[in-house]
Amino acid sequence: MSEPTDCAREVDGDGDGGGDGDGGACLDVDGARIPFRPGETVAVALLRAGIVALRSSPAAGMPRGAFCFMGACQECVAMVDGELRQTCLTPAAPAMTVTLTDRP
Ligand code: FES
Repeated sequence: MSEPTDCAREVDGDGDGGGDGDGGACLDVDGARIPFRPGETVAVALLRAGIVALRSSPAAGMPRGAFCFMGACQECVAMVDGELRQTCLTPAAPAMTVTLTDRP
């Protein structure tokens, strides 16, 4: 696990210098800082940030994203800290790195 960092960049426009007024914890998602609230999973933090498509389907290239939010469908799989993980089952943590490589 990476060391916690602050989320100093203003991301929600409320003027507090961070995100969502929750203490400023952020994920790094393809180089962008995405705030999350305590207890959220990576999938929920991405959804709140408006990131719905996490990858594209291998056959048709259609957008795929979290669907069941309980670990059954595998649609939310993404690289998290260098490992493929179900983002709906992965608790968000400060400085966690998420890579969405093949989004449509
Ligand atoms: S949303 Fe279905 S396994 Fe994550």
